[in-house]
Amino acid sequence: MEKKRILSGIQPSGISTLGNYVGALRNWVKLQVDDRSCFYCVANMHAITVRQNPDELRSRTLDTAAILLACGVDPNRSALFVQSEVHEHAELSWVLNCYTYLGELNRMTQFKDKSSKHSDNINAGLLTYPVLMAADILLYRAHYVPVGEDQKQHLEIARDIAERFNKVYGDVFVIPEPLVPKVGGRIMSLQDPTKKMSKSDPNPASYITVTDEPSAIMKKFKRAVTDSEGRIAYNENQPGVANLLSIYSTFTGMTIEESLAHFDGMGYGTLKTAVAEAVIDGLALVREEFRRIRDDKAYLREVLSRGREQAAEVAARTIADVYGRIGLGAFFD
Ligand code: TYM
Repeated sequence: MEKKRILSGIQPSGISTLGNYVGALRNWVKLQVDDRSCFYCVANMHAITVRQNPDELRSRTLDTAAILLACGVDPNRSALFVQSEVHEHAELSWVLNCYTYLGELNRMTQFKDKSSKHSDNINAGLLTYPVLMAADILLYRAHYVPVGEDQKQHLEIARDIAERFNKVYGDVFVIPEPLVPKVGGRIMSLQDPTKKMSKSDPNPASYITVTDEPSAIMKKFKRAVTDSEGRIAYNENQPGVANLLSIYSTFTGMTIEESLAHFDGMGYGTLKTAVAEAVIDGLALVREEFRRIRDDKAYLREVLSRGREQAAEVAARTIADVYGRIGLGAFFD
């Protein structure tokens, strides 16, 4: 039977957050089982939609690769690579641009958000970003794409583009499905639980990174914004408490109901300390491994070069097929 293929990507925005970890990276690691073939990329081409310092971008790309390895991405089971090192991403992206409507791109909430945040640099890349992401996925004919909830809309457009293309040229692409965790698909800011936890938040108390020191993790959770209800419950009116419960549940493996029963009658202080302890325990190894791997340049180079080769082999086959079908290649066959 044909192996199911998994693809996902992460932007090299330095050290990943607890949101990245819970929403996506934990699943990347879990999906590495024998009957699947996994492709994981550091999406550095996506990062240049906002201005980057070249040396910092390079360094963060390696940081991110090291984080993925520290979280448990296993280079013997998965192809781990840097997006810009497989040129077919850019090539397929151009082709798909010609099969994507401006109206679809204009509707993307991330485009609206980002263009209001970077109003001095609303470049075309910001708009066509989801097309590059569709290329990342469709190039590997991925069946499943493990992501957090915020990427679901981008997955929808990737599916639409693939279906549109297949309708004209036959079954070229696999229609990908998102895999979003039931709990933890959207981890919220610790300072404003109506907003997504994000590394680009100017207030560092609002997010936790996967390499934060235990004391920093404890401090940030203790200062997490909750509400004045004073009752531990899981509902929309108490987003801060619900967020803490989601984090607690993912780190302990308990269901939300079990966590609620566990904290029955207790106060927010107890909940915050317990969440912090669970996260500190859960991330201890990631922090340790990150330093070791990041300092081992030879190992990183070897892993990324092997990943690039594995990815390029699949990508070359797809792009040859696509070019052939649309008349950009196969001139003398
Ligand atoms: P990025 O780099 O913003 O985030 C990487 C992954 O982390 C998830 N995530 C979250 N999940 C839960 N709660 C949060 N607060 C949170 N913040 C981030 C994201 O959903 C994502 O899964 N465009 C993508 C990267 C990308 C990609 C791809 C993903 C490029 N090519 C192909 C999938 C397939 C992005 O910017 O993710």
